[in-house]
Amino acid sequence: MLNQDFEISPRELTDIPIDMFHLFGEEEREFQKMIMMYNGAIREVRTKLHVLNDELSITKKRNPIEFIESRIKEPVSISSKLKRKGYPVSVESAMEHLSDIAGIRVICAFIDDIYRVADMLTMQDDIEIIKRKDYIKYPKANGYRSLHLIIEVPVFFSDHKELMRVEVQIRTIAMDFWASLEHQLKYKKDIEDSDNIIYELHSCANTIHRTDLHMQSLRDRIVENS
Ligand code: GTP
Ligand code: MG
Repeated sequence: MLNQDFEISPRELTDIPIDMFHLFGEEEREFQKMIMMYNGAIREVRTKLHVLNDELSITKKRNPIEFIESRIKEPVSISSKLKRKGYPVSVESAMEHLSDIAGIRVICAFIDDIYRVADMLTMQDDIEIIKRKDYIKYPKANGYRSLHLIIEVPVFFSDHKELMRVEVQIRTIAMDFWASLEHQLKYKKDIEDSDNIIYELHSCANTIHRTDLHMQSLRDRIVENS
């Protein structure tokens, strides 16, 4: 399995294997409703990101966003995360305790675009930042870098408005390249040489970061001269 969290694009409700959650009747409808609501939140945030990218491509002749991926967490991952954290396995509990049922990944070419996109998104007056983790400024011990936001976005339904939480990960193409390989390591048990691999991945993360910074400075020099 390549990238457990983000291998899935936004899908139709009928594609979700609800039986993995072991639900029946009313509960199953509640679960379907929850997925529908998070899907709405993903659509809202994706639209916001597309609008920002369109605007900057006209006003600044730049596209800060290379591409956007999104996914709804698999039912089996929702239930195992709830169990792992000691919470009851129910729709209510998932909505209360999990912040990553809806996930969006934004891939930018340059590091400064990451912060630009994050600022433009979170400045919007209907978006609330619940949590912000800057793993670019403070990389994880393994070398992982990305900017993580948990945001809350209002989604309007037929008779009410719901504030929905969405996890947004913003990273460069190079950081994404690194994270997908590193992610594979987590699912492989008993790899010979794993200590060396961890060490070398960490060293690649640093090389990648230096290259990201270098590419940004080259971009700045090119833009200044044009
Ligand atoms: P959990 O999602 O419950 O683990 O909460 P957390 O507070 O540890 O979340 P964090 O913001 O650190 O990470 C959330 C997501 O970021 C993960 O589900 C991954 O998609 C990604 N991520 C975080 N750390 C790593 C890492 O070391 N390597 C890779 N490849 N991805 C990571
Ligand atoms: Mg997670």
